[in-house]
Amino acid sequence: MRTQVVIVGAGPAGLLLGRLLENHGVETVILERRSAGYVLGRVRAGVLEQKTVELLERAGVSHRLHEEGLVHDGVELSFDGERHRIDFRALVGRTVTVYGQTEVTHDLMDARAASGAATVYEAENVSLHGFDGDSPKVRYVKDGIGHEIACDFIAGCDGFHGVSRASVPAGALQTFERVYPFGWLGLMVEKPPVSDELIYANHERGFALCSMRSRHRSRYYVQVPLDERVEDWSDDRFWDELRRRLDAETAERISTGPSMEKSIAPLRSFVAEPMRFGRLFLAGDAAHIVPPTGAKGLNLAAGDVGLLADALVEFYAERSAAGIDAYSAHALARVWAAERFSWWMTSLLHRLPDMDGFTRRIQRAEFDQLRSSEAAARAMAESYTGAFGAESVMR
Ligand code: FAD
Ligand code: PHB
Repeated sequence: MRTQVVIVGAGPAGLLLGRLLENHGVETVILERRSAGYVLGRVRAGVLEQKTVELLERAGVSHRLHEEGLVHDGVELSFDGERHRIDFRALVGRTVTVYGQTEVTHDLMDARAASGAATVYEAENVSLHGFDGDSPKVRYVKDGIGHEIACDFIAGCDGFHGVSRASVPAGALQTFERVYPFGWLGLMVEKPPVSDELIYANHERGFALCSMRSRHRSRYYVQVPLDERVEDWSDDRFWDELRRRLDAETAERISTGPSMEKSIAPLRSFVAEPMRFGRLFLAGDAAHIVPPTGAKGLNLAAGDVGLLADALVEFYAERSAAGIDAYSAHALARVWAAERFSWWMTSLLHRLPDMDGFTRRIQRAEFDQLRSSEAAARAMAESYTGAFGAESVMR
């Protein structure tokens, strides 16, 4: 079997890349280790930058997003119960859209199924070959039978634990990493959100976040130590802890109910450089991870595949390698801008295990600056909404 681009992974990065390429007549096959149902069952991100929305429009999968997505003009920060709103629209003329990663993935899966493009779910033992030369191949096993696909390029969109990054010779890769000594315990509930906008809270007891998926479904998080077990957190314990970390008025108004999902996610910053090796490209979580505090993970993945799709389309249309040669440097400039912002938001809002009075007062001073300096608030708004990113860095 032969195709132009083999895409490994059917998360948002792989599916969006497939769609963008297909719209320009580039043929792809997507290989996914899990079933479609499993991929859709994973609860993950919820906030889309305007640029991500524009890319989904370009891909022709924004119909439901515009019907059901919630446009947010700002977010609220809370420090020991004192609240301050950052008004994105007023500060930088941009907004963000709350529309879950599950929904984005769903829309992309539907579009791909309708187009008839090939996706192999439950593809086992995917392995990558010959990408340092001119004729890469990808092998996999499906229902016990081995297959091989010859292709021009391989796109590694298979997440942090995927096979693509692991296939690159160790010496060709430089990695940078911060593992944070805490995680987020997240809970999903079929109840209206406590507030129209997200609330990010720094409290003596630890970070908390009030988020949402729709007008009827809320997503809440509390910071927990890394060794915490989700079985030890009854719903009641979660709600009590969340309320203690919020201002009294918000705590009072939360609509609680039985959890639909509860899980702990570790926090990590990670970047692998470069993002291209010969005819293999890495995109999304396969190349980098951000802690979720800045809501950047999904947006970075979308940004990568937007660049990669343009580069591959240019290659096929004009026989020019300029885009694919520039891909890694261009993507990494955006990645590091998002890494910095996500690290900063994480440092500002969390309780660190060895935190002394000095660090706590520095966090307080930072919050006070965001409240009193329009320049500081604008810098945050630029980064959160994605107004500051690759284009700014590359100029
Ligand atoms: P993924 O979504 O990980 O998709 C990769 C796909 O590749 C998966 O479907 C996987 O099954 C498949 N795959 C893996 N290995 C193989 C293989 N060997 N062969 C074939 N297929 C393979 N971001 C936020 O902004 N906010 C959040 O709250 C948030 N929560 C998160 C919670 C968790 C537990 C995780 C892991 C991530 C979270 N993120 C969050 C980050 C965000 O969801 C990711 O940045 C986003 O999913 C990246 O998309 P992706 O397509 O690159 O990777
Ligand atoms: C979420 O809704 O899951 C969410 C929102 C904002 C974040 C992280 C996660 O910063």
